[in-house]
Amino acid sequence: MLRANWREGRRRSDGVRYAFTCPATPRYRHQWYWDSCFHAIAWTHFDRARAQAELRTLVRGGRLDGFIPHTAFWDRPAYWRRAPFYGTHTVFGCSATSTIQTPLLALALERVAEDDEAFKTELLPQLRLHYDWLQAERDVDGDGLITTIYPDESGLDDAPKYDRVFGWMRHDSLGHTWLIERYRRLGYDVRRIVERYDEHVEDVVVNVFYALSLRAMSRLDDERGPDWAERARRTETALLERCYDEQTGLFFDLHGRAERQIRVSTWSSLAPLALGHLPEQVRRRIVDEHLLDERRYRAPCGIPSVSREEPAFKPGFALWRCWRGPSWVNTAWLLVPAMRELGYEPEAERIVDSLALAAARDGLREYYNPLTGRGLAARDFGMSTLLIDLFANCGTDTPGPSAAAAIIHP
Ligand code: GLC
Repeated sequence: MLRANWREGRRRSDGVRYAFTCPATPRYRHQWYWDSCFHAIAWTHFDRARAQAELRTLVRGGRLDGFIPHTAFWDRPAYWRRAPFYGTHTVFGCSATSTIQTPLLALALERVAEDDEAFKTELLPQLRLHYDWLQAERDVDGDGLITTIYPDESGLDDAPKYDRVFGWMRHDSLGHTWLIERYRRLGYDVRRIVERYDEHVEDVVVNVFYALSLRAMSRLDDERGPDWAERARRTETALLERCYDEQTGLFFDLHGRAERQIRVSTWSSLAPLALGHLPEQVRRRIVDEHLLDERRYRAPCGIPSVSREEPAFKPGFALWRCWRGPSWVNTAWLLVPAMRELGYEPEAERIVDSLALAAARDGLREYYNPLTGRGLAARDFGMSTLLIDLFANCGTDTPGPSAAAAIIHP
Protein backbone atom coordinates (compact mmCIF):
# COMPACT_ATOMS: atom_id res chain seq x y z
CA MET A 1 0.00 0.00 0.00
CA LEU A 2 2.82 2.40 0.84
CA ARG A 3 4.37 1.54 -2.52
CA ALA A 4 1.12 2.24 -4.33
CA ASN A 5 0.88 5.64 -2.63
CA TRP A 6 4.51 6.53 -3.44
CA ARG A 7 4.94 9.64 -5.61
CA GLU A 8 8.14 10.92 -7.14
CA GLY A 9 9.12 13.45 -9.77
CA ARG A 10 10.15 17.05 -10.19
CA ARG A 11 8.15 20.15 -9.37
CA ARG A 12 7.05 21.77 -12.62
CA SER A 13 7.79 25.35 -11.58
CA ASP A 14 11.46 24.87 -10.65
CA GLY A 15 12.48 21.26 -11.23
CA VAL A 16 13.01 20.48 -7.51
CA ARG A 17 12.87 16.71 -6.94
CA TYR A 18 10.33 15.10 -4.66
CA ALA A 19 9.62 11.59 -3.37
CA PHE A 20 6.99 10.94 -0.72
CA THR A 21 3.95 8.85 0.18
CA CYS A 22 0.63 10.55 -0.38
CA PRO A 23 -1.86 9.78 2.41
CA ALA A 24 -4.61 8.38 0.13
CA THR A 25 -5.92 8.89 -3.37
CA PRO A 26 -7.93 10.60 -4.63
CA ARG A 27 -8.68 12.67 -1.55
CA TYR A 28 -5.17 13.32 -0.22
CA ARG A 29 -2.68 13.62 -3.09
CA HIS A 30 -0.18 16.02 -1.56
CA GLN A 31 2.50 15.77 1.10
CA TRP A 32 1.30 16.43 4.64
CA TYR A 33 3.87 17.08 7.36
CA TRP A 34 2.72 14.73 10.11
CA ASP A 35 1.53 12.03 7.72
CA SER A 36 4.99 12.00 6.14
CA CYS A 37 6.71 11.59 9.51
CA PHE A 38 4.43 8.65 10.29
CA HIS A 39 4.90 7.17 6.81
CA ALA A 40 8.68 7.39 7.22
CA ILE A 41 8.46 5.48 10.50
CA ALA A 42 6.38 2.76 8.82
CA TRP A 43 8.79 2.65 5.86
CA THR A 44 11.69 1.81 8.21
CA HIS A 45 10.20 -1.71 8.44
CA PHE A 46 10.42 -2.26 4.67
CA ASP A 47 12.69 0.18 2.90
CA ARG A 48 14.89 2.60 4.76
CA ALA A 49 15.90 4.42 1.57
CA ARG A 50 12.29 5.46 1.02
CA ALA A 51 11.95 6.50 4.67
CA GLN A 52 14.96 8.76 4.14
CA ALA A 53 13.66 10.12 0.83
CA GLU A 54 10.32 10.96 2.47
CA LEU A 55 11.99 13.04 5.21
CA ARG A 56 14.39 14.66 2.76
CA THR A 57 11.43 15.78 0.64
CA LEU A 58 9.61 17.10 3.70
CA VAL A 59 12.58 19.28 4.59
CA ARG A 60 13.06 20.34 0.96
CA GLY A 61 9.50 21.68 0.91
CA GLY A 62 10.45 24.15 3.66
CA ARG A 63 12.17 27.52 3.67
CA LEU A 64 15.74 28.50 4.46
CA ASP A 65 14.64 30.06 7.76
CA GLY A 66 13.52 26.68 9.14
CA PHE A 67 9.81 26.87 8.36
CA ILE A 68 8.35 23.56 7.08
CA PRO A 69 4.79 23.64 5.71
CA HIS A 70 1.68 21.78 6.77
CA THR A 71 1.16 20.66 3.16
CA ALA A 72 3.46 20.77 0.14
CA PHE A 73 1.73 20.69 -3.25
CA TRP A 74 4.51 19.06 -5.28
CA ASP A 75 2.62 17.76 -8.23
CA ARG A 76 0.41 20.79 -8.86
CA PRO A 77 -0.80 23.73 -6.74
CA ALA A 78 -3.93 23.29 -4.64
CA TYR A 79 -7.00 23.71 -6.76
CA TRP A 80 -10.51 25.01 -6.08
CA ARG A 81 -11.57 22.21 -3.71
CA ARG A 82 -8.69 22.68 -1.29
CA ALA A 83 -7.23 26.13 -1.98
CA PRO A 84 -9.84 28.32 -0.21
CA PHE A 85 -9.60 26.19 2.96
CA TYR A 86 -5.82 26.07 3.17
CA GLY A 87 -3.49 28.55 4.79
CA THR A 88 -1.58 29.53 1.68
CA HIS A 89 -0.08 32.93 0.89
CA THR A 90 -2.36 33.57 -2.06
CA VAL A 91 -5.53 31.61 -2.83
CA PHE A 92 -4.19 30.00 -5.98
CA GLY A 93 -0.76 29.12 -7.29
CA CYS A 94 1.17 28.33 -4.08
CA SER A 95 3.37 25.25 -3.88
CA ALA A 96 2.94 24.95 -0.10
CA THR A 97 0.92 26.28 2.83
CA SER A 98 2.27 29.00 5.11
CA THR A 99 1.03 27.08 8.13
CA ILE A 100 2.52 24.31 10.26
CA GLN A 101 1.40 20.87 11.39
CA THR A 102 2.23 19.01 14.62
CA PRO A 103 6.05 19.10 14.44
CA LEU A 104 7.33 15.57 15.03
CA LEU A 105 10.11 15.60 12.45
CA ALA A 106 12.94 15.06 14.94
CA LEU A 107 11.14 12.05 16.40
CA ALA A 108 10.83 10.61 12.89
CA LEU A 109 14.45 11.43 12.00
CA GLU A 110 15.68 9.59 15.09
CA ARG A 111 13.76 6.47 14.04
CA VAL A 112 14.77 6.68 10.40
CA ALA A 113 18.46 7.50 10.94
CA GLU A 114 19.16 4.97 13.71
CA ASP A 115 22.95 4.62 13.40
CA ASP A 116 23.24 6.08 9.91
CA GLU A 117 25.50 8.99 10.88
CA ALA A 118 25.66 10.36 7.33
CA PHE A 119 21.89 10.76 7.06
CA LYS A 120 21.69 12.29 10.50
CA THR A 121 24.44 14.78 9.65
CA GLU A 122 22.71 15.62 6.38
CA LEU A 123 19.40 16.66 7.96
CA LEU A 124 20.50 17.91 11.38
CA PRO A 125 21.30 21.52 10.36
CA GLN A 126 17.83 21.94 8.89
CA LEU A 127 16.20 20.40 11.94
CA ARG A 128 18.06 22.82 14.20
CA LEU A 129 16.71 25.68 12.12
CA HIS A 130 13.21 24.17 12.17
CA TYR A 131 12.97 23.83 15.95
CA ASP A 132 14.58 27.25 16.46
CA TRP A 133 12.05 28.74 14.03
CA LEU A 134 9.18 27.16 15.96
CA GLN A 135 10.43 28.64 19.20
CA ALA A 136 11.08 32.09 17.73
CA GLU A 137 7.90 32.40 15.66
CA ARG A 138 5.35 30.26 17.46
CA ASP A 139 6.17 30.51 21.16
CA VAL A 140 4.84 34.04 21.14
CA ASP A 141 4.58 34.51 24.90
CA GLY A 142 7.79 32.61 25.64
CA ASP A 143 6.15 30.12 28.00
CA GLY A 144 7.56 27.00 26.26
CA LEU A 145 4.27 26.19 24.48
CA ILE A 146 3.87 26.84 20.77
CA THR A 147 0.72 28.42 19.35
CA THR A 148 -1.45 27.16 16.49
CA ILE A 149 -3.74 29.49 14.57
CA TYR A 150 -5.97 27.10 12.62
CA PRO A 151 -7.56 23.87 13.84
CA ASP A 152 -5.84 21.81 11.15
CA GLU A 153 -2.39 22.90 12.32
CA SER A 154 -2.62 20.20 14.98
CA GLY A 155 -3.82 17.61 12.46
CA LEU A 156 -7.07 17.23 14.46
CA ASP A 157 -9.14 19.38 12.08
CA ASP A 158 -12.72 19.09 13.31
CA ALA A 159 -12.11 18.00 16.91
CA PRO A 160 -14.94 19.26 19.16
CA LYS A 161 -12.42 20.97 21.43
CA TYR A 162 -12.19 23.66 18.73
CA ASP A 163 -15.95 24.25 18.37
CA ARG A 164 -16.14 27.05 20.92
CA VAL A 165 -12.75 28.57 20.06
CA PHE A 166 -13.40 29.03 16.36
CA GLY A 167 -17.24 29.19 16.46
CA TRP A 168 -18.71 30.10 13.06
CA MET A 169 -15.18 29.98 11.60
CA ARG A 170 -14.70 26.30 12.56
CA HIS A 171 -12.79 24.07 10.19
CA ASP A 172 -15.96 22.37 8.92
CA SER A 173 -17.90 25.58 8.22
CA LEU A 174 -17.85 27.97 5.31
CA GLY A 175 -16.80 30.68 7.77
CA HIS A 176 -13.41 28.98 7.87
CA THR A 177 -12.53 30.65 4.58
CA TRP A 178 -12.86 33.99 6.38
CA LEU A 179 -10.52 32.86 9.16
CA ILE A 180 -8.03 31.82 6.50
CA GLU A 181 -8.34 35.17 4.74
CA ARG A 182 -7.98 37.14 7.98
CA TYR A 183 -4.68 35.53 8.91
CA ARG A 184 -3.52 35.54 5.28
CA ARG A 185 -3.85 39.35 5.33
CA LEU A 186 -1.52 39.43 8.33
CA GLY A 187 1.02 37.35 6.40
CA TYR A 188 0.69 34.50 8.94
CA ASP A 189 2.73 36.59 11.34
CA VAL A 190 1.63 34.89 14.56
CA ARG A 191 2.75 37.79 16.79
CA ARG A 192 0.42 40.17 14.95
CA ILE A 193 -2.35 37.58 14.90
CA VAL A 194 -2.13 37.01 18.65
CA GLU A 195 -2.04 40.76 19.33
CA ARG A 196 -5.21 41.32 17.37
CA TYR A 197 -7.36 38.20 17.65
CA ASP A 198 -8.31 35.49 20.11
CA GLU A 199 -8.81 32.54 17.75
CA HIS A 200 -5.62 30.63 18.49
CA VAL A 201 -4.63 27.77 20.74
CA GLU A 202 -1.75 26.38 22.74
CA ASP A 203 -2.58 22.82 21.89
CA VAL A 204 -1.74 19.85 24.08
CA VAL A 205 -1.17 17.29 21.33
CA VAL A 206 1.00 19.72 19.33
CA ASN A 207 3.11 20.51 22.36
CA VAL A 208 3.44 16.88 23.43
CA PHE A 209 4.92 16.01 20.02
CA TYR A 210 7.01 19.20 20.20
CA ALA A 211 8.43 18.15 23.59
CA LEU A 212 9.08 14.59 22.37
CA SER A 213 10.88 16.04 19.36
CA LEU A 214 13.00 18.37 21.51
CA ARG A 215 13.99 15.29 23.54
CA ALA A 216 14.87 13.54 20.26
CA MET A 217 16.97 16.57 19.26
CA SER A 218 18.85 16.30 22.57
CA ARG A 219 19.84 12.74 21.62
CA LEU A 220 20.56 13.52 17.95
CA ASP A 221 22.57 16.71 18.37
CA ASP A 222 25.81 16.17 20.31
CA GLU A 223 26.77 19.84 20.15
CA ARG A 224 23.56 21.31 21.52
CA GLY A 225 22.25 18.29 23.50
CA PRO A 226 21.78 19.93 26.93
CA ASP A 227 20.19 22.98 25.33
CA TRP A 228 17.48 20.87 23.64
CA ALA A 229 16.88 18.86 26.81
CA GLU A 230 16.35 22.08 28.75
CA ARG A 231 13.87 23.31 26.14
CA ALA A 232 11.99 20.00 26.30
CA ARG A 233 11.85 20.27 30.07
CA ARG A 234 10.38 23.79 29.82
CA THR A 235 7.63 22.60 27.49
CA GLU A 236 6.82 19.61 29.71
CA THR A 237 6.72 21.83 32.80
CA ALA A 238 4.46 24.33 31.03
CA LEU A 239 2.08 21.53 30.03
CA LEU A 240 1.93 20.40 33.64
CA GLU A 241 1.58 23.87 35.13
CA ARG A 242 -0.83 25.41 32.63
CA CYS A 243 -2.76 22.62 30.93
CA TYR A 244 -3.14 20.00 33.65
CA ASP A 245 -6.44 19.81 35.49
CA GLU A 246 -5.99 18.11 38.85
CA GLN A 247 -9.71 17.46 39.24
CA THR A 248 -10.20 15.38 36.08
CA GLY A 249 -6.61 14.20 35.63
CA LEU A 250 -6.71 15.52 32.04
CA PHE A 251 -4.67 18.08 30.08
CA PHE A 252 -6.60 20.82 28.28
CA ASP A 253 -5.59 23.16 25.43
CA LEU A 254 -5.31 26.88 26.21
CA HIS A 255 -7.50 29.28 24.28
CA GLY A 256 -6.46 32.80 23.28
CA ARG A 257 -4.49 35.45 25.10
CA ALA A 258 -6.22 34.73 28.42
CA GLU A 259 -5.10 31.08 28.11
CA ARG A 260 -8.43 29.68 29.24
CA GLN A 261 -8.49 25.88 29.42
CA ILE A 262 -10.76 24.29 26.81
CA ARG A 263 -12.51 21.73 28.94
CA VAL A 264 -13.49 19.13 26.36
CA SER A 265 -12.08 15.62 26.71
CA THR A 266 -10.48 14.45 23.45
CA TRP A 267 -7.53 12.07 23.03
CA SER A 268 -5.33 15.15 22.98
CA SER A 269 -6.02 15.38 26.74
CA LEU A 270 -4.39 11.94 27.11
CA ALA A 271 -1.34 12.63 24.93
CA PRO A 272 0.96 13.70 27.83
CA LEU A 273 0.92 10.02 28.85
CA ALA A 274 3.69 9.68 26.26
CA LEU A 275 5.96 12.10 28.14
CA GLY A 276 8.20 9.86 30.23
CA HIS A 277 9.50 12.83 32.22
CA LEU A 278 6.13 13.75 33.72
CA PRO A 279 5.33 12.46 37.24
CA GLU A 280 4.31 8.81 37.10
CA GLN A 281 1.19 9.38 39.15
CA VAL A 282 -0.08 11.95 36.60
CA ARG A 283 0.53 9.49 33.76
CA ARG A 284 -1.10 6.58 35.60
CA ARG A 285 -4.24 8.59 36.27
CA ILE A 286 -4.65 9.05 32.52
CA VAL A 287 -4.69 5.28 32.09
CA ASP A 288 -6.61 4.30 35.24
CA GLU A 289 -9.31 6.95 35.09
CA HIS A 290 -9.68 7.42 31.33
CA LEU A 291 -8.16 4.75 29.07
CA LEU A 292 -9.47 1.89 31.21
CA ASP A 293 -12.93 3.39 31.75
CA GLU A 294 -15.66 2.17 29.41
CA ARG A 295 -17.64 5.35 29.90
CA ARG A 296 -14.66 7.29 28.53
CA TYR A 297 -11.94 5.83 26.28
CA ARG A 298 -12.12 2.05 26.65
CA ALA A 299 -13.89 0.82 23.52
CA PRO A 300 -14.14 -2.37 21.44
CA CYS A 301 -11.86 -0.93 18.73
CA GLY A 302 -8.82 1.29 19.27
CA ILE A 303 -8.89 4.47 21.33
CA PRO A 304 -11.75 6.86 20.49
CA SER A 305 -10.65 10.34 19.49
CA VAL A 306 -13.25 11.88 21.81
CA SER A 307 -14.36 10.65 25.24
CA ARG A 308 -17.51 8.53 24.96
CA GLU A 309 -19.14 10.66 27.66
CA GLU A 310 -18.72 13.95 25.74
CA PRO A 311 -22.02 15.11 24.16
CA ALA A 312 -20.11 15.72 20.89
CA PHE A 313 -18.90 12.07 20.67
CA LYS A 314 -19.91 10.55 17.31
CA PRO A 315 -18.53 7.07 16.63
CA GLY A 316 -19.51 6.87 12.96
CA PHE A 317 -18.87 8.74 9.75
CA ALA A 318 -19.88 12.42 10.06
CA LEU A 319 -19.81 13.86 6.53
CA TRP A 320 -16.02 14.00 6.38
CA ARG A 321 -15.82 15.83 9.70
CA CYS A 322 -13.01 13.98 11.41
CA TRP A 323 -11.64 13.54 14.93
CA ARG A 324 -15.13 13.65 16.48
CA GLY A 325 -15.12 10.11 17.90
CA PRO A 326 -13.61 7.46 15.60
CA SER A 327 -10.36 5.67 16.47
CA TRP A 328 -7.19 6.49 14.51
CA VAL A 329 -4.08 4.34 14.41
CA ASN A 330 -1.67 7.20 15.18
CA THR A 331 -3.47 7.80 18.49
CA ALA A 332 -2.76 4.23 19.54
CA TRP A 333 0.79 4.59 18.20
CA LEU A 334 1.44 7.42 20.65
CA LEU A 335 -0.35 6.02 23.70
CA VAL A 336 0.13 2.25 23.54
CA PRO A 337 3.94 2.18 24.04
CA ALA A 338 3.50 4.34 27.15
CA MET A 339 0.85 1.93 28.46
CA ARG A 340 3.25 -0.97 27.89
CA GLU A 341 6.04 0.90 29.65
CA LEU A 342 3.84 1.48 32.71
CA GLY A 343 2.86 -2.21 32.85
CA TYR A 344 -0.61 -2.15 31.27
CA GLU A 345 0.48 -4.80 28.78
CA PRO A 346 -2.81 -6.79 28.38
CA GLU A 347 -4.85 -3.65 27.75
CA ALA A 348 -2.22 -2.31 25.34
CA GLU A 349 -2.34 -5.58 23.37
CA ARG A 350 -6.13 -5.58 23.36
CA ILE A 351 -6.11 -2.14 21.73
CA VAL A 352 -3.54 -3.14 19.09
CA ASP A 353 -5.33 -6.42 18.33
CA SER A 354 -8.68 -4.69 17.95
CA LEU A 355 -7.22 -2.32 15.37
CA ALA A 356 -5.38 -5.15 13.61
CA LEU A 357 -8.56 -7.16 13.29
CA ALA A 358 -10.51 -4.15 12.01
CA ALA A 359 -7.76 -3.45 9.45
CA ALA A 360 -7.59 -7.10 8.41
CA ARG A 361 -11.33 -7.00 7.77
CA ASP A 362 -11.89 -3.55 6.29
CA GLY A 363 -8.39 -2.59 5.13
CA LEU A 364 -6.14 0.26 6.26
CA ARG A 365 -8.76 2.96 6.49
CA GLU A 366 -8.50 6.56 7.63
CA TYR A 367 -10.28 5.75 10.91
CA TYR A 368 -12.51 3.15 12.54
CA ASN A 369 -15.78 3.17 14.42
CA PRO A 370 -14.64 2.53 18.01
CA LEU A 371 -17.84 0.65 18.88
CA THR A 372 -18.05 -1.68 15.87
CA GLY A 373 -14.55 -1.61 14.33
CA ARG A 374 -15.98 -0.69 10.93
CA GLY A 375 -13.45 1.07 8.68
CA LEU A 376 -14.45 4.61 7.66
CA ALA A 377 -13.54 7.45 5.25
CA ALA A 378 -10.42 7.20 3.04
CA ARG A 379 -9.16 3.78 1.89
CA ASP A 380 -5.50 2.74 1.77
CA PHE A 381 -4.65 5.48 4.22
CA GLY A 382 -0.93 5.95 4.82
CA MET A 383 -0.84 6.79 8.53
CA SER A 384 -2.68 3.59 9.38
CA THR A 385 0.43 1.62 8.35
CA LEU A 386 1.78 2.64 11.75
CA LEU A 387 0.14 -0.58 12.92
CA ILE A 388 3.28 -2.37 11.76
CA ASP A 389 5.29 -0.32 14.23
CA LEU A 390 2.94 -1.26 17.04
CA PHE A 391 3.40 -4.98 16.28
CA ALA A 392 7.13 -4.67 16.07
CA ASN A 393 7.41 -4.06 19.79
CA CYS A 394 4.98 -6.61 21.16
CA GLY A 395 5.01 -10.33 22.07
CA THR A 396 4.89 -12.83 19.21
CA ASP A 397 1.98 -15.05 20.23
CA THR A 398 -0.81 -12.46 20.30
CA PRO A 399 -3.19 -12.26 17.31
CA GLY A 400 -1.65 -8.89 16.39
CA PRO A 401 1.37 -9.98 14.35
CA SER A 402 -0.54 -12.65 12.45
CA ALA A 403 -3.23 -10.16 11.57
CA ALA A 404 -0.44 -7.85 10.42
CA ALA A 405 0.97 -10.61 8.27
CA ALA A 406 -2.47 -11.02 6.74
CA ILE A 407 -2.50 -7.36 5.85
CA ILE A 408 0.99 -7.33 4.38
CA HIS A 409 0.77 -10.67 2.54
CA PRO A 410 -2.96 -11.07 1.88
C1 GLC B 1 -7.01 15.02 7.42
C2 GLC B 1 -6.56 14.72 8.84
C3 GLC B 1 -5.13 15.19 9.07
C4 GLC B 1 -4.22 14.65 7.99
C5 GLC B 1 -4.76 14.94 6.59
C6 GLC B 1 -4.00 14.23 5.50
O1 GLC B 1 -7.12 16.40 7.21
O2 GLC B 1 -7.40 15.32 9.77
O3 GLC B 1 -4.68 14.79 10.33
O4 GLC B 1 -2.94 15.18 8.13
O5 GLC B 1 -6.09 14.51 6.49
O6 GLC B 1 -4.05 12.85 5.67
